[in-house]
Amino acid sequence: MDIDTLILGAGAAGLFAAAHAGAAAGRRVLVVDHARAPGEKIRISGGGRCNFTNMFASPECYLSANPHFCKSALARYTQWDFIAQMDRHGIDWHEKTLGQLFCDGSARQVIDMLLAEMAPAELWLNTALRDLSHDGSHFTATLDHDGTRQTVTARQVIVATGGKSIPKMGATGLAYDIARQFGLPVTETRPALVPFTFPEGRFKPLSGVSLPARLSNTRTSFDEALLFTHRGLSGPSVLQLSSYWREGEEIRVNLLPDRDALDWLRAERATAGRRQLGTVLAQALPSRLVPHLDLPTETRLADLSDKSLSALLPQLTDWRLTPSGTEGYRTAEVTLGGIDTDALSSRTMETRARPNLFFIGEAVDVTGWLGGYNFQWAWSSAHAAATEI
Ligand code: FDA
Repeated sequence: MDIDTLILGAGAAGLFAAAHAGAAAGRRVLVVDHARAPGEKIRISGGGRCNFTNMFASPECYLSANPHFCKSALARYTQWDFIAQMDRHGIDWHEKTLGQLFCDGSARQVIDMLLAEMAPAELWLNTALRDLSHDGSHFTATLDHDGTRQTVTARQVIVATGGKSIPKMGATGLAYDIARQFGLPVTETRPALVPFTFPEGRFKPLSGVSLPARLSNTRTSFDEALLFTHRGLSGPSVLQLSSYWREGEEIRVNLLPDRDALDWLRAERATAGRRQLGTVLAQALPSRLVPHLDLPTETRLADLSDKSLSALLPQLTDWRLTPSGTEGYRTAEVTLGGIDTDALSSRTMETRARPNLFFIGEAVDVTGWLGGYNFQWAWSSAHAAATEI
């Protein structure tokens, strides 16, 4: 079978690329995926409502060895372009928080929109890539499609097979293998947007407790919810910080990020000094958390001098913890690192050394924050590649 464009991967980036690869104008476009259904991560994303973009998406919200790489694609296909597409398809949406946009209905609507937009490109599911070669002018892919061996010859190949996160959902390192096969560099990959683990039992009694907090390390800081779990720490602030964390590093937790803790405790002491420290803290913190902190919770506020109160502050506003690790690719929302952007054109996502070979989406060393930024990268990078071919 001879086609113009072969797209590997029917996830967010692959489906979106198919929609813009010119199938409607007569180009022969084929998308293949080893999964039984397209867009599986879209389906489960955002608790089933798909946080499809972020109103504040901008290059500063992405991690990459080259922080400038994402600028061109993000500028040429923006969050407003994707929102306009959602509106054209009559898909209602809302902002949940911090510019994060979700479907009012279901993530399924986004998948249906992408499938409608990509027609008449062909989609082969249950299809494994056995071999990919290039003879100097064309790519030849050997595919197992529904148990039948097929050979496809294509002028261009767009690799959109994502990263390694959640192997149970079909994630593989195929993009990195293809890159290496064609002599392209791949930066170190690691799980990101992933919960921290702690030695057995450390936070077990607090499992389920959630509160707003500021999590930071020496490089960055995030103010979002923190969740204690039976295995460690999770919640948006933790997932965000995990992308900036390295093994063995300490993290710092401010449990009272929205107030001056010393001023607040002094004011409480002036008006209600007979109350115990624990009772006062429980006004601002979840009551299950308070006894867990290393503080004299049964002491009356009136019995705590300014010096004593100051000495307590680190437990509340600068709690230092060292995670033993992360939950890894098993639960990570994304993979940090990937195809080295030095090997790609930032305008088209085409590899410099191998014309007509493109890498898009999560496979590339561009990783967004939590909150719709990663889907926006999938749309923008797919658009950059597909409109170029
Ligand atoms: P994606 O992983 O979507 O697609 C890759 C495709 O390639 C898959 O269909 C896979 O089956 C296929 N494939 C892989 N290996 C293959 C092989 N060897 N042969 C054939 N096919 C192969 N982001 C966001 O912005 N908002 C959100 O709400 C969420 N929520 C979220 C929840 C959860 C649980 C996860 C795991 C992730 C998110 N994300 C997210 C991240 C987001 O899902 C991710 O960034 C995009 O799906 C990346 O799109 P890609 O198309 O690059 O990869």
